[in-house]
Amino acid sequence: MNRRKFIWVAGGGAIAAASVATVAAGGVWSSTFPAGAVQAWEGPVGETDPRRRALAYAITAPNPHNLQPWQVDLRESGVITLFTDPTRVLPETDPLGRQILIGHGAFLELLVVALAQQGLAAEVTLWPQGELPASLKGWDRRPVARIVLRGGAVADPLFGQILKRRTPKSDFDTARAVSAADLQTLMASAAAAGLLPGGSVEPARLPALRELCWESAKVELLTPRTMMESIRLTRVGPREILKHRDGISLNSPFIRLADTAGMFDRNAPPAEGSPGYKAAMDRFSGHSRSAMGFAWLSTAGNSRSEQVRAGRAYVRMQLKATEMGLGVHPMSQALQEFAEMQPHFERAHQLMLGKGAPRSAGDETLQMFVRLGYTKAQVPATPRRPLAKFVAA
Ligand SMILES: Cc1cc2nc3c(=O)[nH]c(=O)nc-3n(C[C@H](O)[C@H](O)[C@H](O)COP(=O)(O)O)c2cc1C
Repeated sequence: MNRRKFIWVAGGGAIAAASVATVAAGGVWSSTFPAGAVQAWEGPVGETDPRRRALAYAITAPNPHNLQPWQVDLRESGVITLFTDPTRVLPETDPLGRQILIGHGAFLELLVVALAQQGLAAEVTLWPQGELPASLKGWDRRPVARIVLRGGAVADPLFGQILKRRTPKSDFDTARAVSAADLQTLMASAAAAGLLPGGSVEPARLPALRELCWESAKVELLTPRTMMESIRLTRVGPREILKHRDGISLNSPFIRLADTAGMFDRNAPPAEGSPGYKAAMDRFSGHSRSAMGFAWLSTAGNSRSEQVRAGRAYVRMQLKATEMGLGVHPMSQALQEFAEMQPHFERAHQLMLGKGAPRSAGDETLQMFVRLGYTKAQVPATPRRPLAKFVAA
């Protein structure tokens, strides 16, 4: 947004706010996502093939920027082959594809749990044709996992939480503390999945971790190319949300009105001081300040298999939190591997692991960093693309 446009926007603010009130009061514009965009959260409807039924649960997995980067091949009977969609990656904020592969781990875990619910045990082989290379640039179409179905599975108690799971992208209630016992329960769920968990709800430790969230968020927001990555994936209003059913979905009356009035420029990061700038900053500052605890997951090294395993453990931790009524929200900025983030990447490893940032794939690496707390309102389900979009022909 250029300066002239900003002045016009600032001048139009009062009109916009009044119009929003009128529109919202009339119930014309609701913030609720269009029903079609969130259909996935009803689970498998009309699906009879057990693999497709399980996939209907797996597509609700948490994943960075809600890109939903999964592709499956079902042509081999009794087998599901999982691939990554090369068009659904985040080259600026996730240049190594680490977060994308954590999203594959989450998908895989939900798939395995949903197969077990139908009595099917999954024999998972990661990287049957070798691991994807270290940089996104060298990624090709080799499978992430081959899943062979067998009989005799035992149901997983977390199955019932899959369709209730939500990522709370909102401020937490600062009047409600998270107990040390609840943190231990969460960490135990990740440890059981083979990860190295950590965390803190100690008042003395929280300020430094909150500051890490806020300072690293500012780097992502103020680095034009990383900010633009998010802007390009932003969907505003029911029409865009329904069309894409992915990315960052914004549906509040205010943002829709601003967009309709041409105030939301998709071609440039919001100028310092503009309403868009302030909204983005306020969101991250609120999230950081209202964190009532933190948890993190690390792996002994940083191989592709460890990244996938981190995703499997992460979603189990979030399902456990769902069962407990506790919010778990990733704050991934400090763990991102782009150059401008390096000081925060280093500090994150010092603060959480008491050691420097990894220098090689053999060093302990933080994979997930999340804030914990209780939400004040119900968290909406996020859009998902239809099942057919994930199944390779
Ligand atoms: C590896 C990974 C990193 C993520 N990082 C962030 C983050 O930094 N900020 C955020 O708001 N959500 C983050 N998320 C959560 C996703 O935004 C969320 O899963 C996605 O929007 C879908 O929403 P849902 O989990 O409610 O279904 C992350 C998820 C994963 C798996």
